[in-house]
Amino acid sequence: HNIVLVTSEAAPYSKTGGLGDVCGSLPIALAARGHRVMVVSPRYINGTPADKKFANAVDLDCLIKVYCFGGVQEVGFFHEYRDGVDWLFLFSFRYLLTTPHTIDLEIHMGIYMVLLVIIRHFRFTLLCHAACEAPLVLPLGGFTYGEKCLFLVNDWHASLVPVLLAAKYRPYGVYKDARSILVIHNLSHQGVEPATTYMNLGLPPEWYGAVEWVFPTWARKHALDTGQAVNLLKGAVVTADRLLTVSQGYSWEITTAEGGYGLNGLLSSRRSVLNGITNGIDVAEWDPSSDEHIACHYSAENLNGKAQCKIALQKEVGLPVRPDCPLIGFVGRLDYQKGIDLIRSAIPEIMEDEVQFVMLGSGDLEFEDWMRATESAYKDKFRGWVGFNVPISHKITAGCDILLMPSRFEPCGLNQLYAMRYGTVPVVHDTGGLRDTVENFNPFVQEGHGEGTGWTFSPLTKESMLVALRNATRTYRDHKSSWEGLMKRGMQRDYTWENAAIQYEQVFEWAFLDPPYVS
Ligand code: ADP
Ligand code: GLC
Repeated sequence: HNIVLVTSEAAPYSKTGGLGDVCGSLPIALAARGHRVMVVSPRYINGTPADKKFANAVDLDCLIKVYCFGGVQEVGFFHEYRDGVDWLFLFSFRYLLTTPHTIDLEIHMGIYMVLLVIIRHFRFTLLCHAACEAPLVLPLGGFTYGEKCLFLVNDWHASLVPVLLAAKYRPYGVYKDARSILVIHNLSHQGVEPATTYMNLGLPPEWYGAVEWVFPTWARKHALDTGQAVNLLKGAVVTADRLLTVSQGYSWEITTAEGGYGLNGLLSSRRSVLNGITNGIDVAEWDPSSDEHIACHYSAENLNGKAQCKIALQKEVGLPVRPDCPLIGFVGRLDYQKGIDLIRSAIPEIMEDEVQFVMLGSGDLEFEDWMRATESAYKDKFRGWVGFNVPISHKITAGCDILLMPSRFEPCGLNQLYAMRYGTVPVVHDTGGLRDTVENFNPFVQEGHGEGTGWTFSPLTKESMLVALRNATRTYRDHKSSWEGLMKRGMQRDYTWENAAIQYEQVFEWAFLDPPYVS
């Protein structure tokens, strides 16, 4: 197939979380299976070290015109052909595309927020319009992708694509043979904006109903959040040919009132086209036997190097070097989703135990301050590294014994996969992708060697998290052979993207069996 993957971020070019990882690896896996794949994403320009990653992309010198935000907008593309994939990075003269990281900063900037939300919507509206044009007009390697392509649109940022296919192209006979698949990585972000911004989207007036949304009571944060709004993700839910999430468990959770964020009714009505495929990981970047960021290499066959990685990590973050003390880690966005509040409430009790704890994260300022304060309060036991730092994330993944992930919900979760591949045993809330990927430890089978790759706890309370964490630290300390079994089973699992790519292919075939859902 000719596949057009549309995303707000793709590693290594840009990344704020797992979406970037997935959109940087899945296209390569699909290309390796013989598909022609282009990725369309913004060319962010200021700030992060990731910027230099755009250096190999060349300007295609091809400006296209799209109509949105009250006029004709010109956009251009940079292009890099790498690992069998056409990477296309969008730019616009009208507007500087800032880094995805600044999105988080923007959210803290109070007064600028309204303005920046508009800028963000402008950015992704342009992205979707340009992604629809790219297969028709860009002669990549001498040939355009053409009309019979498959759009793989990720999260709300790319959600306008299936709506545009239905509203703007198909009425003129274009893209009749194309299909679209919405991949939901996180339903809690839907691209909601005031109804008055509808006119900016470049859609015919009669299509308003496709994106119209009425704020449910729970979603109202201030007086303006009454009545109608535009919800971009909803637009894709009602127009895409197939819907996917990044684990099977999450595809069910989003049809429930608890996990559906107001779209559960709609998602349930499309249950027959909704499925889940668990993410793979980039096994070249995340490989303890060759990782450039870690102090010593190791593998399931020879675990010795892991102890060196632990010592190096303790030294680097300034914790006492204690090879036998269980070292617990956390890596992730400091966000309500990740259950940081639960860690915060449990820290006084965790710190009573003989353990060390290292956290890496950025996001919510309140949690960043809490991490700094906790570090001062427990100097010999706790380190809180505030920031977004990929090398440190590798060092924590390799150097810790246990990775804690008390996520309130987790569509897939990549850190537990990285952890298992590095022999770091995950302790996770029993939800979504965490439930699908971590098998709870059972010590009573296999002639006492046990079964499973970590601990899954439920309900999401401090008490049940502490029970799981203490079971883990006790097993680490007192049952060395069980621990080694846990590590090795995790390390030997198959994490490659190939598995997932095969399942994606099945969904592609399935999508082309029916006519377009909205024609
Ligand atoms: P989410 O996408 O919800 O943030 P995932 O577990 O799917 O969660 O992916 C998170 C990705 O972002 C992982 O690659 C993780 O290592 C990375 N990450 C998150 N926070 C940080 C940080 N502070 N520094 C470095 N990498 C981070
Ligand atoms: C989202 C989810 C995370 C998932 C990632 C990649 O950010 O929060 O669980 O792993 O997308 O699909």
